[in-house]
Amino acid sequence: MNHKLRIEGGTKLKGSIEAQGAKNAALPIMAASLLLKGKKLNLQRVPYLKDVSTMVELLRELGVTIDFEEHHLSLDVPEDLCWETPANLVRKMRASSLVLGPLIARCGKAVLPLPGGCSIGSRPIDLHLKGLARMGANIELVHGAVHAHANGLRGCRIYLDFPSVGATENLLMAAAFAQGETVIENAAREPEIGNLIQTLKGMGAQIEEKSTGEILIEGVPELEASSAEIIPDRIEAATYLLAGVITRGEVTVKRIHPSHVDALIAKLEEAGITLTVDNDSVTVHPVRELKAVSLKTMPFPGFPTDLQPQIMSTLALANGTSIIQESVFESRFRHVSELNKMGASVEVQGHTAIIKGVRELIGADVQATDLRAGASLILAGLAAFDETNVFNLGHVWRGYEDLHIKLAELGGRVEILPVEDVESKGNGMNMKGVS
Ligand code: UD1
Repeated sequence: MNHKLRIEGGTKLKGSIEAQGAKNAALPIMAASLLLKGKKLNLQRVPYLKDVSTMVELLRELGVTIDFEEHHLSLDVPEDLCWETPANLVRKMRASSLVLGPLIARCGKAVLPLPGGCSIGSRPIDLHLKGLARMGANIELVHGAVHAHANGLRGCRIYLDFPSVGATENLLMAAAFAQGETVIENAAREPEIGNLIQTLKGMGAQIEEKSTGEILIEGVPELEASSAEIIPDRIEAATYLLAGVITRGEVTVKRIHPSHVDALIAKLEEAGITLTVDNDSVTVHPVRELKAVSLKTMPFPGFPTDLQPQIMSTLALANGTSIIQESVFESRFRHVSELNKMGASVEVQGHTAIIKGVRELIGADVQATDLRAGASLILAGLAAFDETNVFNLGHVWRGYEDLHIKLAELGGRVEILPVEDVESKGNGMNMKGVS
C-alpha cells in the first residue's frame, strides 16, 4: 500500500523539534561493521528510516546479527561472512555499494550488482572501483555485477577526480585493513565522513585527516569491538528550518551541530532571515518578505545538493529572481515541474534553475520523484493556499523519521492517507530510490 501526505497549507509553523541521527552517517558506519571479526559494533542515535532498514537487511544477508531498539543498533559480526550481495537489496539503494570496500578488505572477494542509474541522474561508482583497483583488487564486470577479488589489499596514493562521498568512504574502509599506508587525495569532507573516521578510529584504525583535504590511513591487521554515536542529520534539520522560513513561522531545531548547516545559515541571512544560533540549536525567526538569493551546490562545506530542492521551494516565494546552479548531480530538477503545478515560476536551463518569486503557491496533487524532491513539495504544500497531496511518500520515508509527527508538533496540518496501488503505479515515474 502506497501513501500520500495530505497538507492543509497556510499555517505558520511554530515550536521546536530535535534532529534525528544522520542517515548518511549511519549507512557507511553500519557498513564499516563488516571489518570486524567475531566482534560487535554498537551504535546510538540511529534513525528509523527505510534506507537504514535496507542496510540492516543487507548486512543480515551477509551474516551479521543485528538488534535495533530505541535508536540503538548492535551489529554482531561473525568470523565468516558471506561476500555475495543480493541484487534485490542492492538495487533498492545506491548506498549498498558501501559494503564493497569492507567486503574486499575483509573477505578478499565481493560480488555487488551495480546499483545503476537513478532519478537524479546516472551515478556511476567508477571512482570507488578505480581506487580499489589501485589498492590491488582485481575487478571485473560480469552480467551487470562487480566481481572483485584481492589477495590482500596494499596501501597506495589515490587521487579522486571528484571528492565523491561514497568513494571516499569505501576507500577509507578498505584502507583501514590494507597493508601499509594509503593516501586519499581530494577526499570528500562531509561531516558524515568525519563521523565514519571517528568510528573507525574507535575500532583501532589509524587515520589522519590533513587540513589540505588528504586522508592518511595506515592499515592494521585487525579491528576491535567499539561503539559510536551517529551525528545529527544536517539535511533533516535544515529541511525543518526551511519549513519555518517558507511558512513565515518560527522554528527551532535542537540537538544539531550548527556549523554543519553554515551554508544554509549564510543563504538565509542573505535572504533577510534573522536566526539565533546556539551551541546545539538553530532558530529561524519570522520574516515578512524573503529576498531572492542565488547559490550553487557544491561538495561540503559548499551548499549541499541534498538541500537544493527544499531551498528552491522556499525561494519560489521570495521577492525577485533567484538562480540555482546544480553542480553535483546531472539531473536533479525533477521537482520543478511539480512545483510549477503549484504556481511556482521555475525555468530550467541545463544545470541552472531560474526561480521567479511568486506571491503565493496553490495546493495541488504532486508526485515525489525522489527523497529530497518529496521534501521540497511538502515544504511548498505547507506554505500553499488550500490542500496539497504529495504522492509516493515512500521516497520520503527513506530520509525523514516521523515527518508527519514532527510537522504536526510544529502546528502543521498534515495527515498520512493510504493510496490505492493502482493510483500510484499509474504515474509513469521512475521509482528507483535516490539519496
Ligand atoms: C552521497 C549522499 C547523497 C548526496 C551525495 C552528494 C549518502 C548515502 N548519500 O551520495 O545523499 O547527495 O553524497 O553530497 O551519503 N560520481 C561519479 N563516480 C563515482 C562516484 C560519484 O561520477 O564513482 C559522481 C556522481 O554521479 C555524482 C557526484 O559524483 O554526480 C557525487 O556523488 P557522491 O559524492 O559519490 O555521492 P554519493 O556518495 O552517491
